[in-house]
Amino acid sequence: MNQDDLKRSVANAALAYVPEGQVIGVGTGSTANFFIDGLAQMRDRIRGAVASSEASAARLRAHGIELFDLNDLTELSVYVDGADEIDNRLCMIKGGGAALTREKIVAAVARQFVCICDESKLVKTLGKFPLPVEVIPMATAQVTRALTALGGTPKLRAGVITDNGNCIIDVAGLQISDPEAFEAQVNSIVGVVTNGIFAQRPADVLLLATAQGVRTLT
Ligand code: 5RP
Repeated sequence: MNQDDLKRSVANAALAYVPEGQVIGVGTGSTANFFIDGLAQMRDRIRGAVASSEASAARLRAHGIELFDLNDLTELSVYVDGADEIDNRLCMIKGGGAALTREKIVAAVARQFVCICDESKLVKTLGKFPLPVEVIPMATAQVTRALTALGGTPKLRAGVITDNGNCIIDVAGLQISDPEAFEAQVNSIVGVVTNGIFAQRPADVLLLATAQGVRTLT
């Protein structure tokens, strides 16, 4: 099984969490893309989807799945998305695909967050994957200084503008022992829109693809 086979298997396992007749939240990235492709097979059984990025919206639209504006809904039953790292408390680093802010917003409205990953993403301590931080363009220098003061090595992601018109700074060299506190600390830097730690709203279920099959962690 290669990594794409693992991603496809876990994405297909997540289809069991999709309730009939409802609007669901859909994430971003290569694993989420496999989920979208699987969702297309049951598109007549759901009302539609809220996408966490323009890229996922385009893929959902191409499959004929109706898109909804989050502002027209009060709640989503489920949100399905991948992660760059996840720990055994189901706290995550996300944003490798630069969609972290919209992902965090959609996740906040969902009753259940189902994270879909291959086993390479499961870690003891978050931080090996450089932490993505979405930043207002005029604040990149000031935010870079503040992130350095927190002990990280920040680097502007070259050539990337988010769906919200902002920049991404990736912060390497972190060992995030208290994800909730660090999420709040980074978010309190003026000019930061949000950062890719999902600890205040972790996943509720982790579906983890292994060579032996899909494991479920809660
Ligand atoms: C996008 C994300 C993705 O969920 C994360 O980068 C994982 O992507 P992939 O499934 O391609 O490994 O947070 O912003």
